[in-house]
Amino acid sequence: MCGIIGISSNKSVSANIINSLKKLEYRGYDSAGIATLSDGEIIEVKSEGRVDNLENNFDLKNLKGNIGIGHVRWATHGIPNQINAHPHSSHNVSVVHNGIIENSTILKKHLINNGHKFKSQTDTEVIVHLITENLKTLELEYAITKTLKQLHGSFALGIVFKDIPDLIVGARRGSPLAVGYGPNENYLGSDSYALKAMTNKITYLEDGEFCFVKKDQVLFFNEAGKKVNKKILKLSSDEASYDKGDFKHFMAKEIEEQPTTIKTGIKEYIDSVNKDVNIFNFPWNIDEIKSITLIGCGTAYHSCLMAKYWFEELTNLDVSVDIASEFRYRKNRFKKDTLYIFVSQSGETADTYAALNLCNKNKMKTCSVVNVIESSISRESNFVLPIHCGPEIGVASTKAFLGQILVLYILSLKIGFLRNEIDRVEYKQKIKDLKTLPGLIEKTLQHDNDIQAISSTFNDAKGSMFLGRGFSYPIALEGALKLKELSYVHAEGYPAGEMKHGPLALIEEGMPVVVLAPRDNYYKKTISNMQEVIARGAKVLLITSKSKDEVVSENIWETIEVENTNEDLFPFLLTIPLQKLAYYSALKKGYDIDKPRNLAKSVTVE
Ligand code: M6R
Repeated sequence: MCGIIGISSNKSVSANIINSLKKLEYRGYDSAGIATLSDGEIIEVKSEGRVDNLENNFDLKNLKGNIGIGHVRWATHGIPNQINAHPHSSHNVSVVHNGIIENSTILKKHLINNGHKFKSQTDTEVIVHLITENLKTLELEYAITKTLKQLHGSFALGIVFKDIPDLIVGARRGSPLAVGYGPNENYLGSDSYALKAMTNKITYLEDGEFCFVKKDQVLFFNEAGKKVNKKILKLSSDEASYDKGDFKHFMAKEIEEQPTTIKTGIKEYIDSVNKDVNIFNFPWNIDEIKSITLIGCGTAYHSCLMAKYWFEELTNLDVSVDIASEFRYRKNRFKKDTLYIFVSQSGETADTYAALNLCNKNKMKTCSVVNVIESSISRESNFVLPIHCGPEIGVASTKAFLGQILVLYILSLKIGFLRNEIDRVEYKQKIKDLKTLPGLIEKTLQHDNDIQAISSTFNDAKGSMFLGRGFSYPIALEGALKLKELSYVHAEGYPAGEMKHGPLALIEEGMPVVVLAPRDNYYKKTISNMQEVIARGAKVLLITSKSKDEVVSENIWETIEVENTNEDLFPFLLTIPLQKLAYYSALKKGYDIDKPRNLAKSVTVE
């Protein structure tokens, strides 16, 4: 979380810093700020709220300085207000920070005893004063090395110094940081996305490294302060995907892009001529694997849960699923014959990344399913399966979810086939069926006006429930997450068969309940559970699949029918109406759909 930009140039930097901050808002949008150096002074401007506020409150066009740092914040220590906004500065140092300093309280006490005065409630201000203190007795490189050693926790930092006119220091531990190279200027950014408008030449810092960025030179150092050489990567240009086009919101665009997401995934991973999956060169012997553990957070965790159903269906492997923030601190029994699969859109989620590091340290087999291929999780996994769905800007994950479950489904097919655990004919048939998926999704997207009309009921209710069994259960969880995240209404996803063990007590007259019951093996059981909630007054929105047989139940409030297909593919189709339901609920409430309150797109703090 939090976005960092730094530019050292031979011309004024404020306009480019503001543009980059706008791009970085997906990482945090509680407050924004800039510090530039001009005429030997640090000029600091900051505001609560969005970058737009900062622009409205200050004459940024005339903000002088050929070097500067900027920040968008997602609050961890201290409420989101102007004082706690970054940069934080002393008389000679200004700092922007992404991450959490775990020993800030102890350090702060010590610094206060040495006469330092603090203005904010943030952990970041401790870094400012530590550097100021260390610079009293040490040369710059040593002062930086010493400061970084004193900090516990995670950070990406951008630092400018009043007395060093063209230098930005960057440092990374746990939180991502990149350097970019331009003509007569160089950059520091919390990711390549912020830098893409200015350059496609990027170097990523590794954990423990720091760098000196000047307009005409960049130097890298390791933890011990020794100079290191690093490669420059060339990024592909996909600027067009960062535009909303005719859509009101990125989320609306990303929902509609899903047929393309699936088409691209199929093109990448399916050999249509031979009806085979194009995943080769596994770095391990697939026959030696006995179990799979899938790990992720939020929507990516739901993708993992979804995959469990497919892996269990299509292979004989033992499959477990873990939330990354739980996995990383539990006592795990690492087993050599387990394959650990990490799922993450951003590839930077702190908890998922830490879980991967833990597995790597224990020399486990690691595979990642990511969208951002330059990300830390991608770079540090033994094997990477990109989902190729292009930039996802809306904080609520939509097309990345479909992209993740597609790749996981294809992987389960391939592993099942390689291990002779699924029949050859069935394997070929399932691959053939996959080709129909983009068209089925296009048809499902046409449910629009009906969902718009239904969405008000969810807004007016105290809460709602999303129920499903089997393959539909992870989708119920995902539907509930989307609704709460976007329209701030309480929504609960539940296995339909579990309602009678407690949650049924929540059902009261008029409560909206979404029941996911495609015509699969679970259909009849789910319909029985639906009747149980209807009998207690629930207003049921049934999402089922087309069939010649009518649904045998009375008093269903609304029904949406998705296309009929092979039952493995229903989860893809069921997801679409739920995404739209959440979108339209939030739209009616006038909420900020692409940037819901309290959230951020890239969660790089634990
Ligand atoms: O980038 P990741 O996929 O690792 O992100 C994981 C979650 O933070 C993310 O899926 C989050 O739950 C979404 N906002 C849900 O829409």
